[in-house]
Amino acid sequence: MKKILVIHGPNLNLLGQREKEIYGPTTLAQLNAQLEKLAAENDATLRIIQSNHEGDMVDTIGRAKQEQFDAILINPAAYTHTSIAIRDALLAVNLPAVEVHLSNIYAREDFRHTSLIAPVAKGQISGFGVDSYMLGLQALINLLTPSS
Ligand code: DQA
Repeated sequence: MKKILVIHGPNLNLLGQREKEIYGPTTLAQLNAQLEKLAAENDATLRIIQSNHEGDMVDTIGRAKQEQFDAILINPAAYTHTSIAIRDALLAVNLPAVEVHLSNIYAREDFRHTSLIAPVAKGQISGFGVDSYMLGLQALINLLTPSS
């Protein structure tokens, strides 16, 4: 059974009400239900957390190895563009991570064009709304599934 940690960063608790024209109508609970469904179909278990606090996210990532997670799916939200601490935490645990964004960060304000996280992730998926998460989770599942 693959064990994947899903981390939603700041303000993603407000999905479904926050800037709907950018982030869409889906709530965080609905998004999480879709992730759980995809995981269950693929022999994976998820722990899903949302935090508005950088230090909490760093702590959660830092415990991921001892808690036996195999991979991390993360939307660092605004911390994507600022957090050396989250980048270092991912480097420290050295688990495969995929960075996802609902919006296309490269089609938005200049300050969103830089991700401090992407260089330490396996890859980044940006711009497909809820599908960014589904594609990211599928990519991690494929990565963790030995090919026969
Ligand atoms: C986001 C993009 C970030 O720039 C922004 O700060 C967010 C959400 C996204 O999913 O599109 O909060 O990560």
